[in-house]
Amino acid sequence: MQAETNAQLRLARRPNGEAVADDFELTQDAIPRPEEGEVLVRAHYLSVDPSARTHWNDGSSYRAMVQLGEVIDVPVAGEVVESRHPDFAVGELAAGQMGLHEYGVAPGSALTRVDLDIAPLSSWLGGLGLTGLTAYFGLLEVGDPQPGETVVVTAASGAVGMVVGQIARIKGARAVGIAGSPEKCRFLTEELGFDAAVNYKSDDLYRDLRAATPERIDVIFDNVGGPLLDTLIRRLAIHGRIVVSGATSQYNQDVIYGPTNYLALATMRARMEGFIIFDFEDRYAEARADMAAWIRAGSLKLRENVVAGELADYPQVLHRLYQGENMGKMLIRLPAGR
Ligand SMILES: NC(=O)c1ccc[n+]([C@@H]2O[C@H](COP(=O)([O-])OP(=O)(O)OC[C@H]3O[C@@H](n4cnc5c(N)ncnc54)[C@H](OP(=O)(O)O)[C@@H]3O)[C@@H](O)[C@H]2O)c1
Repeated sequence: MQAETNAQLRLARRPNGEAVADDFELTQDAIPRPEEGEVLVRAHYLSVDPSARTHWNDGSSYRAMVQLGEVIDVPVAGEVVESRHPDFAVGELAAGQMGLHEYGVAPGSALTRVDLDIAPLSSWLGGLGLTGLTAYFGLLEVGDPQPGETVVVTAASGAVGMVVGQIARIKGARAVGIAGSPEKCRFLTEELGFDAAVNYKSDDLYRDLRAATPERIDVIFDNVGGPLLDTLIRRLAIHGRIVVSGATSQYNQDVIYGPTNYLALATMRARMEGFIIFDFEDRYAEARADMAAWIRAGSLKLRENVVAGELADYPQVLHRLYQGENMGKMLIRLPAGR
């Protein structure tokens, strides 16, 4: 039975530093009807991403900024309730960038069909969603790890990081994770099979990093930026590669802290290269096929950190992400969720 109205969360003002509840407004309007080629989806899970914050500033980025009064634009997964696209039938499950609506409409061509035989619905926003794809293409296409090389990944117990380390191992590299607590480090080595993990809150991070990377670091997959990246650059090997995935430690700052020791790139004949996942859109199916095979083989484990909540809980769950209170992909499961 469909609700009479549709709730959505909109940007009410531009956040100053970290976003707070008053930066958003919960509104209600009529449930939209899909046009030809579109699909109406009832949201079950909302993706909580640190990069969402970067689209609420006044300025420009690789994607359009969310304007005041606009609905917050994040990936969502849920059930098809009306379809005018031949690939989607009512009752099927779909995922895509539908934004913080209870009922969202999107072109069928922009949605992913969910196959529960591969992984549960929630994983289609995590390992099989944009964060897993970011790990796959960032590591394999930019980092290009070779067997026997050492890959170090920051925010390693998070959505992107946990997949990076596991793919590094699948490709025969040594995976070292950097995370913010002993519990997260144990999760990486004992549950996900990382070769080593380092707590960056240690009283001597460089000492611990050196012990975990005796052959130095061939690939740094960086999700965090800031002073942590500076420390990692000191351990770079000759011809090392730094993959710039993101900089979660900087997203709430007015002034971004950049690496002070970049001359190590010259000394080590190294390179630093960024990427945006959307550039690989035409290859998502190929990546998901590989990942599905690895899941079946037991070499890739996905984990979600699911919080039961409502649309209006988005800012405080995002805050928990910035506090490092997640292990795995952070999601909100709405009351409709299964
Ligand atoms: N390039 C692309 O196309 C692309 C696409 C998607 C995502 N990304 C980037 O990938 C990165 C990871 O995203 P995710 O969704 O997987 O998030 P996540 O890692 O699941 O969650 C964020 C984690 O970052 C760490 N963190 C938070 N604040 C921090 C701080 N001030 N200093 C150091 N660490 C901090 C916390 O882990 P600890 O407890 O370990 O500190 C937290 O668990 C983000 O930078 C995101 O922008 C890039």
